[in-house]
Amino acid sequence: MNQDELKTLVGQAALHYVPPGEIIGVGTGSTVNKFIDALAGMKDRIRGAVSSSQASTARLQALGIPVFDCNEVGELAVYIDGADEIDPHGHMVKGGGAALTREKIVAAQSRQFVCIADDSKRVQTLGKFPLPVEVIPMASARVARQFAALGGQGRLRLVNGVPLVTDNGQHILDVTGLQIADPLAFEALVNLWPGVVEVGVFAHQKAAVCLLGTAQGVQTLVY
Ligand code: A5P
Repeated sequence: MNQDELKTLVGQAALHYVPPGEIIGVGTGSTVNKFIDALAGMKDRIRGAVSSSQASTARLQALGIPVFDCNEVGELAVYIDGADEIDPHGHMVKGGGAALTREKIVAAQSRQFVCIADDSKRVQTLGKFPLPVEVIPMASARVARQFAALGGQGRLRLVNGVPLVTDNGQHILDVTGLQIADPLAFEALVNLWPGVVEVGVFAHQKAAVCLLGTAQGVQTLVY
């Protein structure tokens, strides 16, 4: 199976974690797009979704799935999203699609994070994938210098030569050269730096379950 087929497989497997009659949290990315497509098949059995990006909102609505604002709803039963990296404890790096801040907000509002990923995302230690960090534009150079002091190299994410602007109107720094041995402490530390909106380490909002697409089928990892 190729990577796209593995994403379809885990997207479909995630339907088992969708409780009937509920509003669920929905993430962002190519794997979640497969999940959203599968979810359309049971849209009459859920009340709707809270989405972590404008892109996912558009896809959900195009398929006839109602989308609610975070502030309109209480705690969500489940949040389903992909990851750029996942370690043996369920800690993740996320934000390859630039939606990390809203993803963390919806994850924090949910009782259970179900991660869907193909097995290329599994790592021993977080840090190989460039770490996305959403920053207030005026702070990006200074935040990059703070990463340099930790041995990382921060680069502003560009689209067609200009800084990418997130759904929240901010910029993204992608940081390479890090080995994140203690994700809980690292996440807490970086989120204290002035100008950081959110760091793409999900340790405090880690996965409870990962549905991993492998050549042998879907593997369920519970943390
Ligand atoms: C979006 O901002 C990310 O956190 C995605 O969840 C992550 O990049 C995984 O995306 P893919 O499913 O496209 O690999």
